[in-house]
Amino acid sequence: MLKGKTILLGVTGGIAAYKSASLASMLVKSGAEVHVLMTEHATNFITPITFETLTGNRCVIDTFDRNFEFHVEHVALAQKADVAVIAPATANVIAKIAHGMADDMLTTTFLACRCPKIIVPAMNTAMYENAVTQNNLEALRKYGMEIIDPASGRLACGDTGAGKMPEPEFILQHIYRCCACPKDMLGLKVLVTAGPTREAIDPVRYITNHSSGKMGYSIARDCMLRGAQVTLVTGKTAIEPPMFVDVIPVTSARDMFDAVTSRSRDMDIIIKAAAVADYRPSQVADEKVKKSDAELSIPLERTDDILKFLGDNKKPGQFLCGFSMETENMLENSKKKLVKKNLDMIIANNLKVKGAGFETDTNIVTMITPDCVTELELMSKDDIATLLINHILALRQES
Ligand code: CTP
Repeated sequence: MLKGKTILLGVTGGIAAYKSASLASMLVKSGAEVHVLMTEHATNFITPITFETLTGNRCVIDTFDRNFEFHVEHVALAQKADVAVIAPATANVIAKIAHGMADDMLTTTFLACRCPKIIVPAMNTAMYENAVTQNNLEALRKYGMEIIDPASGRLACGDTGAGKMPEPEFILQHIYRCCACPKDMLGLKVLVTAGPTREAIDPVRYITNHSSGKMGYSIARDCMLRGAQVTLVTGKTAIEPPMFVDVIPVTSARDMFDAVTSRSRDMDIIIKAAAVADYRPSQVADEKVKKSDAELSIPLERTDDILKFLGDNKKPGQFLCGFSMETENMLENSKKKLVKKNLDMIIANNLKVKGAGFETDTNIVTMITPDCVTELELMSKDDIATLLINHILALRQES
C-alpha cells in the first residue's frame, strides 16, 4: 500500500509513545521507508533502538547535531517525505508547531516539510481541553494539517476523558488516505452497493445469499483512497466497512432500492456489486411460522431490479457499472444484462471457477463494455477494484 513512500514519524514525550512502535512496524510492513524523529523527552518513554530496529533507519533525536552533513541530511529527509506524522503529539509540540518554532530536530524538520502533515494529539484531558491547546490545534487545521481526534477512555494519569492516542491501525488508515494513491478521483461522487439482501419470511427467518460484501468494500475503499466522495449502500456483512466512506446500512432489496434511487441523481459513478434478491416472500408472516407435518411452499414475488431502474433513468455523463454472477454461459448472459440494463460496463464472474465468487479474497473477472471484453487473471479483490476503477476512469476520459 505504501511502497515507494517515505514517511516521517515524529514521536514526542507521552506515555502513548510505546504505541508508535506498532505504527512504525505497520508502516514498514506496508512497504514504506520510515524515518523516526524523537524529542529527547520521548526517549524517556521508549528507546530509539526500538525504532531503529523496526525501521532499519537511524533515529533522529532531539539534540542538535552540529555535524553539517547530518543537518543537510535531515533537510533532505524533509524534502523527500510523502507525509509527516507526529504521534503522539504533546501539547508542547503542538504549541511550538502552531507558532512556527523550530528549536529541535523534530520541529525543524517538520517546519521544512512541504508534504501533507498529520498530528495525533495525546495528553491529559484537561491539557487537551484547555482553550490554549484547542486554539493551537485550530491554527494547525488552518495551516492545512490534519488533526486526528484523540480517543476517550481511561488515561495513564488516572483521568477519564478525551486524550488517548487512537490505535495504530486507525492512524495507519489516515496515512493511507493521505498518501497511498494519486488523487485521480477528486471531486467525483461514487455510489457503491455491496453485500447480500435479506428478505423476511417471518420475524425469525429470511432468504439471503452467500455474498460477503468484500468486492464492493474493496471498490469503495479504492475510490475513497483516490479522493472520491464515496457512499456505500451495504447489506448486512461480517466485515468492517472501509473508513472515510458514508455507509448506508440496508437489509432488504426494497431498502436498497430506496437508499440507492434517492441518492443516484447526485452520483458520477455507480457500481452495483451487491447481490440483490430477485424474489421475496409475497407475504411476511407477523408471527413465527409453526411447523406441521404437511409440506410448505412460500409464494415469492419479484423485487424491483435496481440496476435496470438506474439504467432507465441514467443522468447524462453518469457511469453505470453492474456485476454479473453466473454459473454457466457467463459471457453471453452478462452481455445480455449489459444491454438490457443500459450499462456502461458489467463485471462478469463465474461462481464455479476456483478462486472466484463469494466469500473468497480473490476473484476472476471479465470486464465487459459495449466495445470490448477484458479478461483479468485470478487476483485479489483489492487489485480487481483498482483495475476496474482504472478502466472506468479511462473510459470516462475517452467519452
Ligand atoms: N441487481 C439489482 N437489482 C436486482 C437484481 C440484481 O440491482 N433486483 C443488480 C446486481 O447488483 C448486479 C446486476 O444487477 O449488479 C446483475 O445481478 P445478477 O444477479 O447477476 O443478475 P440478474 O439481473 O439478477 O439476473 P439473473 O439472476 O437471472 O442472472
